Amino acid sequence: MIVNGTYVYEAKTRSLAPIASEDLRALTGKQSFAKDAPVTLVFVADYARMGKVSQEDKDVYSAADTGYISQNVYLFCASEGLATGVRASIDRPTLAKALKVRPEQKIILAQSIGYPKR
Ligand SMILES: Cc1cc2nc3c(=O)[nH]c(=O)nc-3n(C[C@H](O)[C@H](O)[C@H](O)COP(=O)(O)O)c2cc1C
Repeated sequence: MIVNGTYVYEAKTRSLAPIASEDLRALTGKQSFAKDAPVTLVFVADYARMGKVSQEDKDVYSAADTGYISQNVYLFCASEGLATGVRASIDRPTLAKALKVRPEQKIILAQSIGYPKR
């Protein structure tokens, strides 16, 4: 069962592993609505896992991959009647510290999911 908190998605086991119990939503965006969204995804690239690729290419691949994933989230939300929005305006150093992101990892975007205004 998932309870309120912050989790990292473990792709191999398709599971969520808890990393923090406090509410970190306010740190995922500079706009006030960030703290209210029921769910926020934070896309983090792990440059250490990208092999012998130039830094420029790592940045490009990470941005492109995040775009694909984010778009799939948009499509899912559209199919389920949910609202979603992606954000690049993030205080990355502060969020990285709270999420215990390693120096070789980079926060790319955040995407909140919620219910549309009635
Ligand atoms: C890569 C990217 C980054 C964005 N960053 C932000 C952001 O930091 N803050 C924000 O309010 N909107 C940001 N937007 C715009 C919103 O995600 C969204 O597209 C916009 O609010 C319009 O949403 P709507 O069409 O659902 O009204 C970004 C869009 C993209 C594609």
